[in-house]
Order: sequence, then C-alpha cells, then structure tokens
Amino acid sequence: LPKYEFILASRVGEKSNVGMIQLNRPKALNALCNALVSDLTNAVALFDNDSSIGAIVITGSEKAFAAGADIKEMRDLTFSSCISKRLLEELNLLTSCKKPIIAAVNGYALGGGCELAMMCDIIYAGDKAKFGQPEITIGTIPGAGGTQRIARSCGKSKAMEICLTGNQFTAQEAEKMGLVSKIIPADQLVAESIKLGERIASMSPVIVALCKESVNRAFETSLAEGLNFEKRMFYGTFATKDQKEGMTAFIEKRSPNFSNN
Ligand code: CAA
Repeated sequence: LPKYEFILASRVGEKSNVGMIQLNRPKALNALCNALVSDLTNAVALFDNDSSIGAIVITGSEKAFAAGADIKEMRDLTFSSCISKRLLEELNLLTSCKKPIIAAVNGYALGGGCELAMMCDIIYAGDKAKFGQPEITIGTIPGAGGTQRIARSCGKSKAMEICLTGNQFTAQEAEKMGLVSKIIPADQLVAESIKLGERIASMSPVIVALCKESVNRAFETSLAEGLNFEKRMFYGTFATKDQKEGMTAFIEKRSPNFSNN
C-alpha cells in the first residue's frame, strides 16, 4: 500500500480482507486539513477497487477520532474562495464507496470529525468517545452534513440542540439517540470493529453492495419509492451465482462459498 502523509493504511483481519485506515495527525488531533482529506479519499478509493477487501474501518487515536475541519486552514477563507475551491466537497467522495465503511470512534469526534463518522455506514464508539458539532461556537455552521444527517437519524429536536449549542455529547447519549450502533470499551474498539468488518467481508461482495445501496436509498426517497427500489434489488440478487450458492449451502447444511458473481 502507498505511504500517506496523514493516515496509515493496511489490510487487517485473519484473511486480510478488511481495509484499515487510521487518521494520523496527532499534533492537531486529526483535524481534517486538505492533505489529510486527500489521503483519506485516496485510500478509500484504493480499498473500494481492491477485490480482496470486503469492508473498511476508519479510526483515529484514543484521544481523537478527528477534532473537525482544520480551523487554521479555514480562518481566512472568503465566500468566493469557498466556492472556487469547493470547500469540503472532496470528503463527500467517501459516500460513493460501494463497500461498507465502519467508523471506530475513540475520543473526540467534533465538527467535521462527527460528520465524517456519520458519512460512514456504521458507527461503533469507544466508551469515552465525545461527539459534537461545535461550529456555532466559532461563528459558523456544520458544513459536511451535520445539520442534515443528525436530523435524519435523531430527529429535529436533537439536531437543533446539538447544532445550536455546540455542546458535546457522550457515546452513551449517541447510542441512545441512534447515532451509534454499539459502545465498546475503548481498548477493544478497533478489534471489535475489525471483527464487524470481517463478518461483512464474509458475505458476497456484490450482494453487500446492493444491500448498502438499498439501505442508503431510505435516506433519499419516499417509502413507496424506497420499497420499490428494494424489491427490484432483491429480485436482482436472483441473477447472481452467489444467491444460488447461498441458498444451496443452506439447504445442503454447509457454509457458502461466495464468488462475487
Ligand atoms: N483545527 C485545527 N487545529 C486543531 C483543531 C481543528 N479543528 N482541533 C485541535 N487543533 C489543534 C489545536 O490548535 C492544538 O494545536 P497547537 O498545539 O498548535 O495549539 C492541538 O490541536 C491540540 O488541541 P488542544 O490544545 O485544543 O487540545 P485539548 O485537549 O485542550 O482540546 C478539543 C481538545 C476540545 C478537541 C479542542 O482542540 C477543540 O475544541 N478543537 C476544535 C473543535 C472544533 O471546533 N471543531 C469544529 C471545526 S469547524 C468544522 O469542522 C466545520 C465543518 O463542519 C466541517
């Protein structure tokens, strides 16, 4: 794998089928400077195109998942320079990844850090993780999906409270409001997240991609349209060898051997 400046990338898991990305800019608590975002999106694209990889884990350090967009890079921007450099657009590339991405959040996930976690498909949090959208306290608003994704997953009242106060909230609160799917002791978080990645990577990659796309459709469309989309995808699975293999393995009482076909 290439050497990056601000992240560490490796293949992990017993079968080396999980792509691991560790944000590695400790001096700035993994603040998402432009170069870090480029490293991150490049590594995700590399794993997305690597047929040996079935899922991706993004993590930070025990102290910080990421403390937000880089305030020092942003301070002197103008409206027109934001437009011309398409500020924070690059981070969105993450959401076009076909493979599931798990955010393993220890420590601070603030501002763009919280938004990065929410761009991922599943969030596991260490028991001491702290989330928040502090942009309002520095004279701006969330700009990488915070107002939209918190509202969609936790409702209006929580989204307003979080975005209008900038107050941090704990992993326990995040789990209660449905933002996080599991809390894990901090020192076991990465190992458990890799296990989750391995579980997903043991499924058929083509079926996993269809499943991810179907769940994501729930956030983009009406229930009737979403149900129709799901049904077509479901019917589509019957055009694959992996559906035949999965159901045959069940009937023959053996484990399936998926081929990504
Ligand atoms: N941007 C740039 N540098 C940052 C940073 C950020 N978002 N967060 C932390 N750092 C830097 C600090 O400036 C400091 O650097 P120096 O040693 O050079 O001064 C270093 O990281 C360590 O930080 P602290 O000394 O502040 O560490 P702490 O333990 O006292 O506090 C913290 C930790 C509460 C996370 C605090 O650093 C903090 O509040 N950070 C900013 C959080 C924030 O406001 N994030 C939102 C950014 S805006 C955004 O994200 C927009 C968007 O929607 C995309």
